[in-house]
Amino acid sequence: MLARRTCIGVFDSGFGGLTVLKALLEVIPDADYIYFGDTARLPYGSKSVETVSRYAVQAGNYLEQHGAQLLVIACNTATALSLDKITQAASVPVIGVVEPGAERTAGESKNRRAVVIGTEATVNSHAYLKALEARDIQAKEKACPLLVPLVEEGWIDHAVTEQVARIYLDEAFTGGFRSADVLLLGCTHYPLLKPVLYRVAPKHVTIVDSAESTAQAVARHLRDEPLPDTPHDERRHLSRLKFFATDSTEKFKRLGQRFLGHPIEDVEHVDLKE
Ligand code: DGL
Repeated sequence: MLARRTCIGVFDSGFGGLTVLKALLEVIPDADYIYFGDTARLPYGSKSVETVSRYAVQAGNYLEQHGAQLLVIACNTATALSLDKITQAASVPVIGVVEPGAERTAGESKNRRAVVIGTEATVNSHAYLKALEARDIQAKEKACPLLVPLVEEGWIDHAVTEQVARIYLDEAFTGGFRSADVLLLGCTHYPLLKPVLYRVAPKHVTIVDSAESTAQAVARHLRDEPLPDTPHDERRHLSRLKFFATDSTEKFKRLGQRFLGHPIEDVEHVDLKE
């Protein structure tokens, strides 16, 4: 008989959450994963709480219906704006990216000051600010809306991206936050920019990647509260990595491999009716 494996559902507005899936695959390599990228409706980072919540709840339900036993909300914007609503609507455990990122920051920061970068919506929600204040860390949040399109354009190690990142970080690390010693990456796309960000951030800064912190939080959760086995035959149609995208599957494969770090095979198009 084939081994039974945990099925983890990963949700993001698009491709960026593949950075979280990549981290999950490193930390929990023996699970099955189904990934939902709402590529037809991205970006979430410029949308309202109501819209993001409606989309995210729909996607969470879809993953659950397709066998997810635990939901990882890889999208920082969806976590920041809608984690409560997604959790209420789900009947499986839900883990977002904000709390793990804040927890790691609290562990890393010596002077209890951090800069958080994210989308406009994430910053306006102050979800990271609140999560960090609860851990006695003062935070300065900075929206960096140009970084997502630059990453999607593939301009990862590009002079323009470096210039843009330098302007944003210079504006963030000022006044009382000049001495902040952690830069928390509060957006799925930013882990790809780590080399650039290390170059332009003040030298004393440690970068905390909420993708890595979240993968470790999921592993801890599974150790503490193991999930019940799913009978294998209920999921025999699923490959180990299965992807659902609401826009072009070809584009998902092309852009997605940049985030995941290897080719993407099994992508199915989904048309979510509102
Ligand atoms: N996934 C989003 C986030 O982490 C970035 C892309 C978007 O705005 O949809 O905030």
